[in-house]
Amino acid sequence: MGRLRCSSAVFLLAAVSVVLLLNSDVALGCGFKRIFSFGDSIIDTGNFVYSTGNGPSALKELPFGMTFFNKPSGRICDGRVLVDFYAEAFNLPLLPPSIPELETGQFATGANFAVLASTALPPDYFKNKYNFTMNVPSYLPAQVDSFKKVLARIAPGDSATRALLNESLVVMGEIGGNDYNFWFLGDPKNSRDTPDQYLPDVVAGIGAAAQAVIDLGARAVLVPGNFPIGCVPVYLNAHQSDNASDYDENHCLRWFNDFSQRHNGALKQEVARLRSQNPGVKVVFADYFGAAMQFVQNPQQYGIADPLVACCGGDGKYHTGKPCDKNAKLWGSPAGFASWDGIHMTEKAYSVIAAGVLDGPYADTPLRNICQG
Ligand SMILES: *[C@@H]1O[C@H](CO)[C@@H](O)[C@H](O)[C@H]1NC(C)=O
Ligand SMILES: *[C@@H]1O[C@H](CO)[C@@H](O)[C@H](O)[C@H]1NC(C)=O
Ligand SMILES: *[C@@H]1O[C@H](CO)[C@@H](O)[C@H](O)[C@H]1NC(C)=O
Repeated sequence: MGRLRCSSAVFLLAAVSVVLLLNSDVALGCGFKRIFSFGDSIIDTGNFVYSTGNGPSALKELPFGMTFFNKPSGRICDGRVLVDFYAEAFNLPLLPPSIPELETGQFATGANFAVLASTALPPDYFKNKYNFTMNVPSYLPAQVDSFKKVLARIAPGDSATRALLNESLVVMGEIGGNDYNFWFLGDPKNSRDTPDQYLPDVVAGIGAAAQAVIDLGARAVLVPGNFPIGCVPVYLNAHQSDNASDYDENHCLRWFNDFSQRHNGALKQEVARLRSQNPGVKVVFADYFGAAMQFVQNPQQYGIADPLVACCGGDGKYHTGKPCDKNAKLWGSPAGFASWDGIHMTEKAYSVIAAGVLDGPYADTPLRNICQG
C-alpha cells in the first residue's frame, strides 16, 4: 500500500509537471511572487514623503491615512490605493516604497517606484519644446532607471533578472496624468490645444517604459489609462463655465473627459502594438476611466452622495477652497466620497476601480485571471 501510494504520488507529480510544461500560462501563475509598480501620487505609497526627510509635509499628518492605517502612511489618500488592492488580491504584502531601501532592500515581494508629481515625459521635454517648466521630483524614465539599478543588485546577470521578472507583475501607472495636469491646472493662459500636440509623446513614453521592462524579462504588464479628469474637483473648479453645454449629463466637464478619452484611445493602440511585438507577454490595458465612471454615474450604489466634491478641503462648490491638511474641513466619512482631496481619490473609490480591474470588465483581461487565456 505504502509503495503503491508512493508511486501514484510520483505519477501525479509527473502528470502535474507535464501539464505545467504544456501550459506555460499556468506556470506564469495567477499568483505572482512580486509586483513592481511605477507612477505618480495616485499610487505613491511613501516615496515622496520619505524624500522630504525631516521637513514638514501635510502628508505626514492626519487625516491622511485615517481610514485604513489610522495614521499617515505616505499615501495621498485616506487609506489604501490601487496598487495595495492589487497586492492584496495576489496575497502579497502591501508594496514597500523603493526609495527608502534603494541601496539595501531585497524586495522579495516587489517594490513601488511611484513618486508624487511624477510625469511620464522628462521635464526637459517640456522645457525644450514648450518653454514650460515642470518642477517634478521624478519621471517615468528615471523610475525605470532606478528599477534597473535595483535589479542589477538583487538579481545580477541577465538570466537571474529574467527569472525574477518572469514571476512578477509590473504595474505601469497610472502615469502621464501629470503631464496634462501641470498644463491644464497651471497658468490659465496655457492653451487648451497644446496637450493634444504632446499626447502622442506621452503615450509613446509609457509604451517605451513598458517595452523596457519587457526587454528585461517581464511577462505580465498592466498599463492603466487616465481618469475622467472632467469629473475631478480641481478641474471642475479651475474650469468653471457659465455655458451649460460645457457640462455633460453627469455635470462633468465634457471637453476634459473627451481629452482623457483621446489619451486612453491612443494608449490602447500602444498596448495593442506592444502585444503584437511581444508574443507571449501579457500586456493588459486597465480602463480607469470606465471604472471611475461607475461611481460618477451611479454614486448612490456606492454610498457616495456627490462624486464631484472633495471629502477633505475647504468651502466652494467642489470643496476645493483649501488644500487638504490637518486644518482642512472634513466633510464627512471618506467612505461617502469619491474624491479625497480634490485631485486624489478615496480608498472607497480606489476599491471600486481595483475591483473592476481585478474581476472585470475594466481590464481587457481581468487582472485576477491574467494567467488564463
Ligand atoms: C520662456 O519663458 C520664460 C518665462 O517662463 C520667459 O521669460 C522667456 O522669455 C521664455 N523664452 C522663450 C524663448 O520664449
Ligand atoms: C518563465 O516562465 C515560463 C513559464 O514557466 C518558462 O517557460 C520560462 O522558461 C521562464 N523563463 C525564464 C527566463 O525563467
Ligand atoms: C458653449 O459650449 C459649446 C460646447 O462646449 C460651444 O460649442 C459653444 O460655442 C459655447 N457657446 C458659447 C456662447 O460660448
